[in-house]
Amino acid sequence: MRKILVTSALPYANGPIHLGHLVEYIQTDIWVRFQKLRGHQCIYVCADDAHGTPIMLKAQQEGITPEQLIARISAEHQADFADFLIGFDNYYSTHSDENRYYAHLIYNRLREAGHITQRTITQAYDPEAEMFLPDRFIKGECPRCGAADQYGDSCEVCGATYTPTELKNAISVISGAKPVERETEHYFFKLGDFSKMLKKWVHSGHLQPEISNKLDEWFQTGLQDWDISRDAPYWGFEIPDAPGKYFYVWLDAPIGYMASFRNYCDRSGIAFDDYWSKQADTSTELYHFIGKDIAYFHTLFWPAMLEGAGFRKPTAVWCHGFLTINGQKMSKSRNTFIRARTYLEQLNPEYLRYYFAAKLGAGVDDIDLNLQDFMARVNSDLVGKLVNIASRCAGFIGKRFNGKLTDTLPDNELYASFVRSGEEIASLYEKREYGHAMREIMALADIANQYIDEKKPWVAIKEAGREAEVQAVCTQGLNLFRVLITWIKPVLPRLAADAEQFLNGGELTWKAVQKPLLGQKINPFRPLLTRVEQSSIDAILEHAKQTAGKTPQDAVAREPVAEQIQFSDFAKLDLRIARIIKAAHVEGADKLLQLTLDLGGETRNVFAGIKSAYTPEQLEGRLTVMVANLAPRKMRFGLSEGMVLAAGPGGKELFLLSPDEGAQPGMRVK
Ligand code: MSP
Ligand code: ZN
Repeated sequence: MRKILVTSALPYANGPIHLGHLVEYIQTDIWVRFQKLRGHQCIYVCADDAHGTPIMLKAQQEGITPEQLIARISAEHQADFADFLIGFDNYYSTHSDENRYYAHLIYNRLREAGHITQRTITQAYDPEAEMFLPDRFIKGECPRCGAADQYGDSCEVCGATYTPTELKNAISVISGAKPVERETEHYFFKLGDFSKMLKKWVHSGHLQPEISNKLDEWFQTGLQDWDISRDAPYWGFEIPDAPGKYFYVWLDAPIGYMASFRNYCDRSGIAFDDYWSKQADTSTELYHFIGKDIAYFHTLFWPAMLEGAGFRKPTAVWCHGFLTINGQKMSKSRNTFIRARTYLEQLNPEYLRYYFAAKLGAGVDDIDLNLQDFMARVNSDLVGKLVNIASRCAGFIGKRFNGKLTDTLPDNELYASFVRSGEEIASLYEKREYGHAMREIMALADIANQYIDEKKPWVAIKEAGREAEVQAVCTQGLNLFRVLITWIKPVLPRLAADAEQFLNGGELTWKAVQKPLLGQKINPFRPLLTRVEQSSIDAILEHAKQTAGKTPQDAVAREPVAEQIQFSDFAKLDLRIARIIKAAHVEGADKLLQLTLDLGGETRNVFAGIKSAYTPEQLEGRLTVMVANLAPRKMRFGLSEGMVLAAGPGGKELFLLSPDEGAQPGMRVK
């Protein structure tokens, strides 16, 4: 029996679980369930990642303490995970005594061994909020391409990376103030001390080749010291010998794996050292499942920290790619930022578990959830193929044979061939080649259905003297079904539990199905799964639309409020009510509509970039608000004499302003 400890990355405690996260938790859960079914000891721990600036600010915004916030989010996360059948053995928090203990222990050991250094750095500081600003809390113009509204670390338009001090016209996202530079003393982990060990470790079978290759690039640029401290105010653990300095969230986050496991040990009697001591790597296995975005932390910092503090390193770190929906990055403006709960309100979690399994391989490629393909795949594979085997056989056994299976199988070789496929399928699960495993299982389901098609029990049952044959054929069919349900049980644990209940032959495991189920009664059959309907998909998208922009992250990282102005600045704007008397397409322009506006006697020609959200017909006759004193601008298509006002991120999400009833064209807006 192998002894295995498995983790998934710890989700941040500042927002809801979404379908992207679930790729990871489902991938891990399938692997863990598979190991358990093979008879190994496999412990799966996780926790909320409860520290850091975003959580601190989010709590402030809600007027609650960070403790209250993380307690609420933890409960939400755990409910979502439970409903997606993620079977953690322990779910904990990085804001825990165990984590403080191990964070201190590791830090102290690293410092005693000379791996911690201190130096003064210059960092952006928000003089109004009186705090140092993480890169993501500064916005400004890209120093390379000039794009507006870019974060302090990188430009989403041209891909440049830079330091926040290089941004032009930078502002703090928190207060809108202009950041100033301030000196502060920081603590660093000397990653370079471990470069020899790491260069070897990353090529010793602990990582996927794509990741090792990526790391080689990083080695070439040299391993920099890692900044592990943050100044107060910060939400985290204070550094023991440095009042007012806190551990950066990424220092104590992976230690949270240990802390959650420690907490589990204390209530289950498992020995912590069997899994984490320096010698443990010869007798127990440790795996971290993570997304590729956090590989750096898990494949460089984390093994180095463990090595430096005298703990074992992971057996492997396994990265998966990112989820796209309908071929594109999950996005609020496209309504594809789908929360776990939104999905659960409409659909069976096992459909998504199956779909992800069907798409997942051992590599780091992104995986796409195409909602039409999802519906088609689930309906054809799970409902049309797999469950169909049982529904075609169970009725006859139940109604005509009082639920009783025959004592022998008519085709022992067919059954044996299904059982033999179990080793191949097991090795695919072991290698995380779930997609391949699902294809194998569905190919077997096709064979089982063909068998029933050929034997035509629905014909035989109508002919005198062929009862025994029908009973035998259906017993065969149900036994093939029983094997397939076992192979797919890591993916569909609830369906498997229902099937176990119905088959009435005990727990399904790789071992149990070596022998067929014969000569006994089964329980009455109830439909195991229903089809996915388009209306459920529509409802999910509709709900995603309603909740878009309302996630906590949004509140923190919303567009910064612009620089303060005086009333006299405002008074310079001449805003007027205008009636759109004509709207037309502009030849050769894919974003613009040409509007003819009536300002109460005077007409204006305006080119507006609102074509993505409105047709001309929707606009004609409508009142809106315009900037009437904007200097006319010569465009390729003609002169634009003002601007109309609309809100929203763009695309379809664009909302033209309109006045309340009674307003007249030409009225001044003030
Ligand atoms: N808190 C850190 C992890 C600390 S682990 C010591 C973190 N949290 S997260 O909530 O942002 O992400 C949790 C996991 O979900 C990460 O492994 C991340 O890669 C994964 N995913 C988040 N969005 C994802 C997709 N859209 N697609 C696939 N996985 C995604 O990072
Ligand atoms: Zn740029």
